[in-house]
Amino acid sequence: MAAACPEQPEQPPECALRVAQVGKRYLDGDAPRWVLRNVSFNVRAGRTVALWGPSGTGKSTLLNLLGGIARPDAGEITFNDGDEALVVSAASQGRRTRYRRRHVGFVFQFFNLVPTLTVAENVLLPLELNGLAADREHALARLDELGLAHCRERFPATLSGGEQQRAAIARALGHGPRVLLADEPTGNLDAANARRVTALLWEQAERAGCALVVATHNESVAERADEVVSLAV
Ligand SMILES: Nc1ncnc2c1ncn2[C@@H]1O[C@H](COP(=O)(O)OP(=O)(O)OP(=O)(O)O)[C@@H](O)[C@H]1O
Ligand SMILES: [Mg+2]
Repeated sequence: MAAACPEQPEQPPECALRVAQVGKRYLDGDAPRWVLRNVSFNVRAGRTVALWGPSGTGKSTLLNLLGGIARPDAGEITFNDGDEALVVSAASQGRRTRYRRRHVGFVFQFFNLVPTLTVAENVLLPLELNGLAADREHALARLDELGLAHCRERFPATLSGGEQQRAAIARALGHGPRVLLADEPTGNLDAANARRVTALLWEQAERAGCALVVATHNESVAERADEVVSLAV
């Protein structure tokens, strides 16, 4: 289990994300159905949490709540990077959009690269959304670190699955997010590529000092995490 966060306000805030008693319900016809109940955990900068559970237990839903795409129906999600603190679960849509653009990187199962942009343009997209043009070379250097220097000017469709996922990791990290959210990042890769992508995801998140939250049903991915949060029913 991850260590509890210190409560003293004068201490440097170590928990990038605090998740307390979070619940989410959807309407099934007219009837509300809770897909998440009483989920609590903390993630510090440089640490990792795996969200573990069979299909339909709410892993993607929880990542969406952490990224501010949706709001929970119970509990609280708090972001704190030392400079800025935000109760994500209570913030307006506009505030959550700014939080997501600036502080969150997403890696998806199916990569979600923009097919009409080159790999380099995909990586630079989050910077442009944040007005961070000065960091272009730093962001593009991630492609080199991830073994994709030769792919910069190519379109995503010409890359292998493993290459596309590595490009997606570069894109997720280019704007210097404090929180990295990955939704089954190896779900669409063969075993060898899954191992490689997992190792690179961990290495990059550690180097960037991100709090990494990974939804997975791959045991070898979950085993690498500092903490596993089980969402099994
Ligand atoms: N917008 C929505 N409206 C209604 N129900 C939804 C909505 N989004 C998700 N659900 C339901 O919530 C449950 C959890 O879905 P979610 O996608 O979070 O599961 P998951 O753990 O990510 O599954 P998988 O491993 O298959 O990706 C499912 O039963 C799903 O049908
Ligand atoms: Mg899912």
